[in-house]
Amino acid sequence: MFNDLIDFNDLTLLEWENLFELGLDIYDNPSKYKNYCKNKILAALFYEPSTRTNFSFQAAMIRLGGNTIGFSGTSATSVSKGENLKDTIKIVSNYADIIVIRHPNEGAAYAASLYSKLPVINAGDGGHLHPTQTMTDLFTIGKLKDKKMTGLDIGICGDLLYGRTVHSLLKAFSLYSDNTFYFISTPELRVPEYFIYELRKNNKIIIYKTIEECIDKLDIIYMTRIQRERFKTEEEYKKQTGIYILDKEKLKKSKKDLIILHPLPKNNEIGSDIEDDPRAQYFAQAGFGMYIRMALLIKLLEKPKTQINIQEIKTTGKKCANEKCVTNTEKNLPDIIKKIDGKSCCAYCETEI
Ligand code: NCD
Repeated sequence: MFNDLIDFNDLTLLEWENLFELGLDIYDNPSKYKNYCKNKILAALFYEPSTRTNFSFQAAMIRLGGNTIGFSGTSATSVSKGENLKDTIKIVSNYADIIVIRHPNEGAAYAASLYSKLPVINAGDGGHLHPTQTMTDLFTIGKLKDKKMTGLDIGICGDLLYGRTVHSLLKAFSLYSDNTFYFISTPELRVPEYFIYELRKNNKIIIYKTIEECIDKLDIIYMTRIQRERFKTEEEYKKQTGIYILDKEKLKKSKKDLIILHPLPKNNEIGSDIEDDPRAQYFAQAGFGMYIRMALLIKLLEKPKTQINIQEIKTTGKKCANEKCVTNTEKNLPDIIKKIDGKSCCAYCETEI
């Protein structure tokens, strides 16, 4: 059983299927669950902007009978006075029962989980992962496709390099097989290999330059915005915008039961002429997110967390070269390595060492 949710793949397929079923039951019978988290407190620590993830987590806890504390932006907290992540987590651990954290640095949620006696949920760590968006995405696909999770043709379009929702979704789909993925992006914004090496084993991956080339084959198209805040310069970002726009003209060739998903917020990648098309399911998707997050809160609060003994972690002395990795901003973190596809990678951000 998972203690924290840092990466979707912390769950086995069976654990995910149980969570999915619980989410369905909560969706159908919400009042049955209204006291499941009575007297529990969720701490929502949002170091980065959020609308859906933050509100849906807080609404989830309130609908389960619990309460919430937290911040949206660090300007009114001790972080602005120089408090490090470890200290903030240790402090919050005294006041709440579960922590949800979104942070600009890759691996920050994992770092938080090392020091927290409470379950930690990763609500987005820089351009790395966003596992609860993946739960939302899979829950939506399961609901709208009658639980069919294999044999699907899935287009993933936009910023596959920095889009953390894309990374988590592709990692998660390695739990299933026989799906075909159509990656549609510029060469500069292709998905890093370490997010898809597991997926490749049982699924097909095809790379396309345009939406037009594959739209007729797709059961699902997952659109994403270009992640402006992750680029080194505004100029580099500008070169990547306005290239992929899904509009009425392109949809003419699509299947009637195509599902258009988007983690949101959307910029200009969804044409205003398809907003009311029944295939556009991204607002329903955002709505489903609250129910699957309710299921996750129930599961993680069911039993006390077994805390990692930080003293026992063997440090390697090898620094991560990824400048966006949390180990480069939080100086007190132990260097930990994990193996991905036989390669030594940073356990926080998964970049090869
Ligand atoms: C996403 C995120 O924050 O990564 N938003 C969300 O949580 N639904 C997608 C994005 O910001 O583009």
